[in-house]
Amino acid sequence: MIRVEGLTKVFRRPRTFSGPFGALRTLVTRQHEETTAVDDVTFEIDEGEVVGYLGPNGAGKSTTIKILTGILTPTSGTVEVNGLVPWRDRSANARNVGVVFGQRSQLWWDLPLIESLRLVGALYDVPAPRFETSLKKLRDLLGLDGFLDTPVRQLSLGQRMRGDLAAAVLYEPPLLYLDEPTVGLDVLAKEAVREFIMETNRIGRTTVILTTHDLADVEALCKRIVLIDQGRVLFDGAIDALVDQPRRLVVLLDAEPEEVRGVSRDLEGRYVFEIRDDLPGLIASIAAEHTIRDMSIEEPALESVIKGIYTR
Ligand SMILES: Nc1ncnc2c1ncn2[C@@H]1O[C@H](COP(=O)(O)OP(=O)(O)O)[C@@H](O)[C@H]1O
Ligand SMILES: [Mg+2]
Repeated sequence: MIRVEGLTKVFRRPRTFSGPFGALRTLVTRQHEETTAVDDVTFEIDEGEVVGYLGPNGAGKSTTIKILTGILTPTSGTVEVNGLVPWRDRSANARNVGVVFGQRSQLWWDLPLIESLRLVGALYDVPAPRFETSLKKLRDLLGLDGFLDTPVRQLSLGQRMRGDLAAAVLYEPPLLYLDEPTVGLDVLAKEAVREFIMETNRIGRTTVILTTHDLADVEALCKRIVLIDQGRVLFDGAIDALVDQPRRLVVLLDAEPEEVRGVSRDLEGRYVFEIRDDLPGLIASIAAEHTIRDMSIEEPALESVIKGIYTR
């Protein structure tokens, strides 16, 4: 469904100078600064998958999504979305894809939400009966009824996001790109957005690419994540495989030798053992040589696993 290979995007912008005559120098020197926002990225996404596309600020997530939607042209690499090259077949591609950028609404600011939705329906040639069925379903699923007649500029952030989601799926695209759809939302609104994504994927087998800073979104929705940093893929695979690491036994000892049988102390002065199978045996072997002051068992949380990948 989506094939991305060797995707690279370099932004070039004029180097700007400040200070007296800065603007003049900017014009005259014509030096450029280059940022490689996406750097040789390769991945494939199958129909019906919900993939978390994760990374710190500036990692290149939004740039990738903009290329997939056809808004941006890459510097090099190939992309195929449902058989189309997004930036070449931009309008055909748009019909296959619903997009939500959490940081910026796609709705018409001054129009009542319902009018924005009708415009989207008209732009995408949704026949009237199909529009009505779709709208009815979305009103239920997203609880739009209280604010359909309110101008978008007067909506709360959570209401606006629900309106944007409705607009993105109104024409029932097989693909949905969600760039930070829960950013700034309260717990309840986040939950509503998650349920909507889950339902949309379940009912229509909609393929979803989701970027988010909230790992609870990822845990609720994604079986697979692609982690990027500085434009490069660091990890691509199932979350299960990531989190399916040995549990760890963390102990504090009375005496504090630098090293206990091959295990060094971590930054907080604790000793961390991987639990293989025999937990009582492990504890006994430590207790035979040292006095244990405190101990606990740590499950590998997605957050710490991801942190581990970034610090490696
Ligand atoms: N239009 C642009 N012109 C120049 N640089 C850009 C532009 N858009 C993004 N960048 C740069 O590309 C890098 C990746 O940005 P972005 O894709 O927005 O990251 P993310 O969405 O992961 O936070 C950043 O260093 C950003 O400053
Ligand atoms: Mg972004």
